[in-house]
Amino acid sequence: MRPFLKWPGNKYRIIEAIKGRLPVGKRLVEPFVGSGAVFLNTDYERYLLNDNNPDLITLYKILKKEGEPFIQYCQTFFTPENNSSDKYYELRALFNRTDDSRLKSALLIYLNRHGYNGLVRYNLQHELNVPFGDYKRPYFPYQELLFFFKKTSQAVFTCNDFLQTMAEARPGDVLYCDPPYVPLSATSSFTAYSAGGFYLDRQKDLARMAEELSGRGIPVLISNHDTEFTNRAYQNADIQRLQVQRFISCDGENRKKVGEILALFAPRERAVNP
Ligand SMILES: C[S@@+](CC[C@H](N)C(=O)[O-])C[C@H]1O[C@@H](n2cnc3c(N)ncnc32)[C@H](O)[C@@H]1O
Repeated sequence: MRPFLKWPGNKYRIIEAIKGRLPVGKRLVEPFVGSGAVFLNTDYERYLLNDNNPDLITLYKILKKEGEPFIQYCQTFFTPENNSSDKYYELRALFNRTDDSRLKSALLIYLNRHGYNGLVRYNLQHELNVPFGDYKRPYFPYQELLFFFKKTSQAVFTCNDFLQTMAEARPGDVLYCDPPYVPLSATSSFTAYSAGGFYLDRQKDLARMAEELSGRGIPVLISNHDTEFTNRAYQNADIQRLQVQRFISCDGENRKKVGEILALFAPRERAVNP
């Protein structure tokens, strides 16, 4: 099942490769859950799902608590009258100033489907600043929301820094870590998903913590770009390489294959799914 949100770096396209590498375990811990492509397409008993984007985690918590009435409320924003540039910017401004978390969460879905290219971009004041997408008839992801909601009974959502979530892992857990990508070239010096950015020292913290957890018997799978930096950072892991078709430029036309890696920090004695 596809995630109900369009999300930068969403892993739906390589889900089979990820599933093939994820070890067995009781609980899957995702410190960077994003749109939840891995949560939705795996079958663990329990999940600990974390992201440091508070708008995203608030939305998930409200969906978990309310279910279908909330989904129907979200759908009320998907009208032909709301699909104009003026209305979009009005609702974007409302999203940025409201303290009503139910309204804000519903607007996040509206903005994600009516904004340009599924971008999720904030300015330094943590205001969403994605321009209008001008799509003919934006899709309301009813079935996708319902599927996500049904799985939430197995999930706990948190909004913390990834290191805190990793520190909560216990034997029997499996971790899947999908951090913001390391830049492919030196010219793109960082990848920012939310205000603050995610720099290389944080990528090193992640690799160090993964090694530490696998040393304590807890397996950690990390996905990232295949670069000199990641190969060095994950040198003690078992690395699988794959080529992924991606849209690279902002005009959405420029398709290119990009090298990605799945690095498994595995305690030796644990079994891996066939
Ligand atoms: C590549 S995306 C994850 C995509 C996800 N696997 C999916 O399928 O949609 C990376 C996520 O990390 C989150 N993030 C960035 N910095 C973080 C931090 N310090 N701690 C926790 N999450 C963080 C971003 O908000 C973003 O949702």
